[in-house]
Amino acid sequence: MQGGPVSRGLEDVVVANSAITFIDGKGGRLIYRGYDIRDLAQHSTFEETCYLLWYGRLPKPQELEQLRSKLVGRREIPLGLERLLEAIPAKTSPMEMLRTGVSALSSFEPDDLKRPESSIGGALRLTAVLPTIIAAYHRLRQGKRPVAPRADLDHAANFLYMLTGEVANPSYVKALDVALILHADHEFNASTFSARVTASTLSDLYSAVTSAVGTLKGPLHGGANEEVMRMVHDIHSPEEVESYVTQKLARHEKIMGFGHRVYKVEDPRAAILREYAKRLAQESGDPKSFVILRNVEEVVHHEKGLYPNVDLFSGACYESMGIPMDLFTPVFAISRVSGWTAHILEQYSDNRIIRPASTYTGPTDLAYVPLAQR
Ligand code: COA
Repeated sequence: MQGGPVSRGLEDVVVANSAITFIDGKGGRLIYRGYDIRDLAQHSTFEETCYLLWYGRLPKPQELEQLRSKLVGRREIPLGLERLLEAIPAKTSPMEMLRTGVSALSSFEPDDLKRPESSIGGALRLTAVLPTIIAAYHRLRQGKRPVAPRADLDHAANFLYMLTGEVANPSYVKALDVALILHADHEFNASTFSARVTASTLSDLYSAVTSAVGTLKGPLHGGANEEVMRMVHDIHSPEEVESYVTQKLARHEKIMGFGHRVYKVEDPRAAILREYAKRLAQESGDPKSFVILRNVEEVVHHEKGLYPNVDLFSGACYESMGIPMDLFTPVFAISRVSGWTAHILEQYSDNRIIRPASTYTGPTDLAYVPLAQR
């Protein structure tokens, strides 16, 4: 069609009403269902945050207990999926594997989990099982057997346990739980939007989450946390930061972990993760990566006036916990699946197919030339 002016990247285009997450980009606040992320990071747990996102309110103790046991009961992966993960070449990136893993899981699931009206069951299942898929693949690609989930461990602790077979240090568990809370939702970010677009065709929840995983994978979205730590390792020492960053900026390259479409001030999630990264670096006795990141922050702010986003310090936290770099974005997915599914449920509850328009810029009156005459 011959439409009006284009907003590149849909900047500032409002596409829906949503009661899930509010971002105050000027005030630097992030709100889930009315609650400030800072309060949730301090007082809540990932499981409670899931309840909040899906049901719209904080649970009573018994409701939280029921949710926990439902999640625990849905952690196992089908044997057929494990065999499929085993067949995936070990060089495959874990996000590529996860896109296939979520899609393939759907074939092993009962049909009633896939109907829009039973999507809360699918939301529980996918949130419960994503850590198992990721940990199982990580073990298999190293030639090790997957570690079965442990019912007595909460979501964050169980994921770390399934990676190594050892119960993790409580300070790692706490930091990961907080990181999962902070990444759980972020309004109409790219992956959530793609999940909602898929759901708006009344496709099933597994398809919508598969779309979201593929979208999260990109370096401008979920892939940024991994890129940040690659940069830290490239830099080698805190003294090299200034020349590294200024040269990169002079080549008009982006510095991962900075800038945001919505936040015009510091991303509140970055401030919380900075504290955890610092704490874990001090505990480990090796603060080099943290010091490099702080220097990068200073130089980027001085040169470009940009603030860190959620991805600047998350990778440093995960690295301190011993999580391999290529699992950083899958860890983002472990958290964000709660938000994706909350949005999919919201989309189903008041659906109209999402179908925007474009302004056509090509020709319209060309005469067809037969193949032999071209
Ligand atoms: N490093 C250097 N410059 C940056 C930058 C960064 N990380 N982020 C934005 N900028 C600059 C752009 O070069 C552009 O400058 P220009 O106007 O002189 O060309 C300006 O700031 C606007 O950036 P733009 O890419 O148009 O903003 P956007 O709203 O389309 O994109 C992001 C937002 C998050 C994709 C973008 O800031 C980015 O690519 N950041 C790095 C990736 C990242 O950390 N992603 C995780 C997001 S949570």
